[in-house]
Amino acid sequence: MDYRFDQNASYQKLEKLASKATQYTLKSRFADDKDRLGKFSFEWEDIYIDFSKQVIDEDVWKHLLELAEEAGVTEGIEAMFSGEKINATENRAVLHTALRDRKDAQRFFEGQNVMPDVHEVLESMENFTNAVHQGSFLGATGEEIKDVVSIGIGGSDLGPVMVSEALKALPSKVKLHYVSNVDGFHLENTLRQLEVKNTLFIIVSKTFTTQETMTNAEYAKKWLMESLGEDAVGQHFTAVSTNISAAQDFGIAEKNVFGFWDWVGGRYSLWGAVGLSIMMEYGAPVFRELLAGARAMDEHFRNTPNNKNLPVVLALLGIWNSNFMQHRSLAILPYAQGLHRFPAFLQQADMESNGKQCNKKGERIKYQTGPVIWGEAGTNGQHAFYQLIHQGTQIIPADFIGFVAPMSKYGDHHQKLMANFIAQSEALMNGLDEAAVMKDLEAQGMSKEECERLAPFKIFEGNRPSTSILFNELNPRSLGKLIAMYEHKIFVQGWIWDVFSFDQWGVELGKKLAKRILPQIQGESSFEHDSSTTELIRRCK
Ligand code: F6P
Repeated sequence: MDYRFDQNASYQKLEKLASKATQYTLKSRFADDKDRLGKFSFEWEDIYIDFSKQVIDEDVWKHLLELAEEAGVTEGIEAMFSGEKINATENRAVLHTALRDRKDAQRFFEGQNVMPDVHEVLESMENFTNAVHQGSFLGATGEEIKDVVSIGIGGSDLGPVMVSEALKALPSKVKLHYVSNVDGFHLENTLRQLEVKNTLFIIVSKTFTTQETMTNAEYAKKWLMESLGEDAVGQHFTAVSTNISAAQDFGIAEKNVFGFWDWVGGRYSLWGAVGLSIMMEYGAPVFRELLAGARAMDEHFRNTPNNKNLPVVLALLGIWNSNFMQHRSLAILPYAQGLHRFPAFLQQADMESNGKQCNKKGERIKYQTGPVIWGEAGTNGQHAFYQLIHQGTQIIPADFIGFVAPMSKYGDHHQKLMANFIAQSEALMNGLDEAAVMKDLEAQGMSKEECERLAPFKIFEGNRPSTSILFNELNPRSLGKLIAMYEHKIFVQGWIWDVFSFDQWGVELGKKLAKRILPQIQGESSFEHDSSTTELIRRCK
């Protein structure tokens, strides 16, 4: 099929609809259609989605659903789940969903069912975790492990950190620390809080070659050896990698290396061995609940018609906002302190996946692909950047993510949090017009002149699109669903945009140049650069 996103029949129709979309305010659309909410909201299990505050109508929605059909989204989903090598530039399948599938499921890669291997790793992670928790795995001096330091970066860090933070309300079995940055202070500041004899390191790196991770891992090893000697390394270091031999060369015993496979992308990897730190912190049953939630979302995604399919709906709304309404970013606004790292996690998941310039034929594309993803936990974001979302000159679509049940037993905190969650999307949609502003100012006893002077600054134009996603509560299972929902949303968008969502060539050039510049900063090489780069090197030398 010679598929071209921007030459689809529905694409042309949506372009026309977009040019008229702002003729009516969202407020008037609600007034004119009493069933608007019913048309643009639904529930699945413990998740309620309301996208009635998006700037769409039935016609737009119909053509967005057609767009999904023209792009063959349903076939794409099957291609991914059935282990086709849809990551063609790396010649890899995309099977992270197998990491959370049942032991008796049949998931094939090159004709082999991968489920026995997946569960073997899961069980060995579980055995190791239990041994640490129960004190049968001890440090080299016979002391129990109290602190675990996970060293990794990007997909080998962001997912586990995000989950670790999200589940902080649960009791933890050991204290987790995450080190990612090659700024030595990150490691130094962590190590100075630790007792070497009680510390276990998990080196998480798919390739086991990443500069940041290997630098931190080597220093951590040096720190340990200074106190406990070389023989202690095997008792204090574990690894998670697809590169088992490199991990062994580092000094880690084979039985303490937890493997995964090329068909798991780094940013989609928290569900397997990369999640060892999550299991260490909260125990295997919690980790299994996380997997069960993601698996439920996988089944929903695979078996639900597009118009009631959460990831597909989110993907289509994003495409409407980005390609047709020309809004270039998406704010992720979770109203749960535990999810404060969720926007950062999604930045990698989404932007590394869909920040692409070529279609699958290798042609430079002219339409917009992945949006800028950013955000912050509500209400902190409200006191930082919401000014721009409400009154700035660019329109920022937003996903508001909330939870009905409180995470804390403190007073009326949660009611206040949720009042803010609801108020923000209402304000963005309705705004505040001049008449209302004038009335408000007059009620404060100001002169007509003063009211007229101040009014322009207090007007909210409204009509700013948002989706509200409301879960019953934040727990391991619902968290698994939330993460998998966004993973699949990213997949659908990439499929419709016709880009390869599972490679990441764009991160390579900078890494390569940094390797060339390093010896120059160390004074061992004199490679020619432009004058700007040369001067920066000279100053850092
Ligand atoms: O940032 C680029 C990247 O390749 C990511 O895709 C990956 O998650 C990260 O580096 C870490 O890679 P590794 O797990 O191989 O250390």
